[in-house]
Amino acid sequence: MMWYKNAVFYEVNVRAFADSDGNGHGDLPGLTQKLDYLQYLGVDCLWLMPIFQSPLRDDGYDISDYFSIQPAFGNVDDFKVLVAEAHRRGMKILTDLVMNHTSDQHPWFRSARSSRNSPYRDYYVWSDTPDKYPDARIIFVDTETSNWSWDEQAGQYYWHRFYASQPDLNYENPAVRQAMLDALKFWLDLGIDGFRADAVPYLFEREGTICENLPETHAYLKQVRAFMDENYPGTILLAEANQWPEDVRPYFGDGDEFHMGFHFPVMPRIFISLRSQSKEDLVWIMNRTPQIPENCQWCTFLRNHDELTLEMVIPDKREWMWQEYAPDPRMRLNLGIRRRLAPLLDNDPARIRLAFALLFSLPGSPIIYYGDEIGMGDNIDLFDRNGVRTPMQWNAGPNAGFSTAAPEDLYAPVIADPQYAPAKVNVESQLADPDSLLNTLRNLLAIHKGRPELAWGTFAWLETGDLAVFACQRDWMGQTLVAVCNLADTERAVKVEMPSAGEWSDLLSGRAWLTDGLELPIHLSGSQYLWLVKSWGYAAETIPGEPQVGI
Ligand code: NOJ
Repeated sequence: MMWYKNAVFYEVNVRAFADSDGNGHGDLPGLTQKLDYLQYLGVDCLWLMPIFQSPLRDDGYDISDYFSIQPAFGNVDDFKVLVAEAHRRGMKILTDLVMNHTSDQHPWFRSARSSRNSPYRDYYVWSDTPDKYPDARIIFVDTETSNWSWDEQAGQYYWHRFYASQPDLNYENPAVRQAMLDALKFWLDLGIDGFRADAVPYLFEREGTICENLPETHAYLKQVRAFMDENYPGTILLAEANQWPEDVRPYFGDGDEFHMGFHFPVMPRIFISLRSQSKEDLVWIMNRTPQIPENCQWCTFLRNHDELTLEMVIPDKREWMWQEYAPDPRMRLNLGIRRRLAPLLDNDPARIRLAFALLFSLPGSPIIYYGDEIGMGDNIDLFDRNGVRTPMQWNAGPNAGFSTAAPEDLYAPVIADPQYAPAKVNVESQLADPDSLLNTLRNLLAIHKGRPELAWGTFAWLETGDLAVFACQRDWMGQTLVAVCNLADTERAVKVEMPSAGEWSDLLSGRAWLTDGLELPIHLSGSQYLWLVKSWGYAAETIPGEPQVGI
């Protein structure tokens, strides 16, 4: 069952979502209580950011015990309840799997640094000089100056691709390879549906290379996949490989490595297209996106818990993106932008809706970052990426309904900017408003789910004669959908090249258009989007609004 090929994913930061015991941190029981909400939205699969024991120097991406849960978030029993309750609602659960590194507080590293004779010394990558692997780039350029850090106790340098508090594991060591499989097994035995595998390009290092995407990394990942297929059929692996499409392609192997991979380069190009009001960059990246095996799927997104990465854009465009979307230098981080979706799009409802419609019109299973479905804001005064990880806004009450703790005891402050504060932006009020962003998205998701051609149909561009108007044809098992998005915020009159003549209906508004040739003249308002299908396949009664033949 390839459920992931037509699923909508939702990224949850457990710490930020719902606090059930009033300690100021979101937790697993809190998330369980909110599953009905996620089901209402139409989410099929949750991806939980790391929930394992951790000193939280990198929000849990620094694990100090792969077999227990961060006490503030709950315990393994709470986790079992969450999994059971999600499954009861037909939802799947992925957890983050941080394979590349541990926390420096992990007992393995504590032991390793304590003596050259430690049985764990070889779990990490050591050197007497900081000169090895000079071609490996630094990823956290704003905080780290080298991939090597001197460890006084160890008397050697250790290798780390991220913060110095996250020493890289040594995958040359068979014991490490086995230890990671043991961790996988523990969580799979608890019934989860798979993993979002963190930072997979960096598992192995080799002199004379950039230490990314090495064949030995792929070989190990294939073993992980084989282990899962053999023992936990139906579970999936989602790759976090922030690479060009041609470098992500090998992570799908011959359908025997990752089931899914994030499509990193398409993401900034959605923002480029929206701001430049031209589809040029989107066309370029889609045309550069290779075919993937039948049992694989892209995972597409607008935002996530990190900075909006601009690693996969050329320096000139990066500079342009910074100017357009991060005018205040504090909005910039590493090679990216640390802002949420709504502020990036000037809190303009039409543009935010268009961004989602555009995302859902592209191939891939989309993922929504918690809070973006209600248009939450960010807080650039918070350190690093914390500004996009603030408490979920459930209602207009104290602490946005996130927690009963005193405000000063929250893990992070609730957004205070009046434009985005809970009084203005919250789930409760949006649930009550049929035209809210939340309900608009819910409607898009429902239609998306019933139209597998959107997620995994073939993709072909359609001519519109206007760079500001995106149109594509999506086909799957004899069903065709034509997506049209006006990237401009002004009206456009275009002729869309259609796959066939006849009556075409918009699944979103119920309006219909008739064409006797292959050109459909159409008048679009600013930021308007349409999902057109042949009228004979169209169930008018399920669509709100008056179907009519127009324009
Ligand atoms: C990628 C994660 O998305 C990010 O949040 C984290 O800091 C790094 N990997 C290191 O684990």
